[in-house]
Amino acid sequence: MKNQRRDFLKTACAPVALTLLGIPLTNACSKDTDEGDLFNEGPLEIDLSQSQFQDLQTVNGWVNYQAKKLLLLRVSNSEILAFNNACPHQGNRNGWSFKGNQFVCSFHGREYSANCNSALRCYNTSLSGNILTVSR
Ligand code: FES
Repeated sequence: MKNQRRDFLKTACAPVALTLLGIPLTNACSKDTDEGDLFNEGPLEIDLSQSQFQDLQTVNGWVNYQAKKLLLLRVSNSEILAFNNACPHQGNRNGWSFKGNQFVCSFHGREYSANCNSALRCYNTSLSGNILTVSR
C-alpha cells in the first residue's frame, strides 16, 4: 500500500496529489497540448530554406519551431518528422534538447523516443525539395 501511494504521487499531477492530501487548489491539471489553428487551413507548408531551419539540413538536426508549436527532426535525407512540441507530462513547450534519438524535456527530465510510436503527438509529413508539408 505504501509503495502504491508513493507510485501514485510520482505520476499524478501536483494539483491532484495535493488536493487528495487535503490541500485545495483552484487550478486544474490541464496540459497545453492544443494545436490551436495550426491546421485550420489545411496542411502546413514550411519553407526550410529560411535560416531558422538551418539545423534541419543535416540528419539528426532538429528545431523547436515554437511559432507553430512543432518539434521538427530530420531522420534521413528524405524524411523529417514533426511532433507537437507540448511535453506529454505537463505540456511545457520550450525546454527541449535532443540526445541519442530522444527528446528530453528539461522541466522534469522526461525522455521521449523520437518516433511516431512515442508519447509525443506525431504528424504526417512529406518533403519536396525545401518544402516540408505537415498535416494531421
Ligand atoms: S513538463 Fe514535466 S517533463 Fe516535461
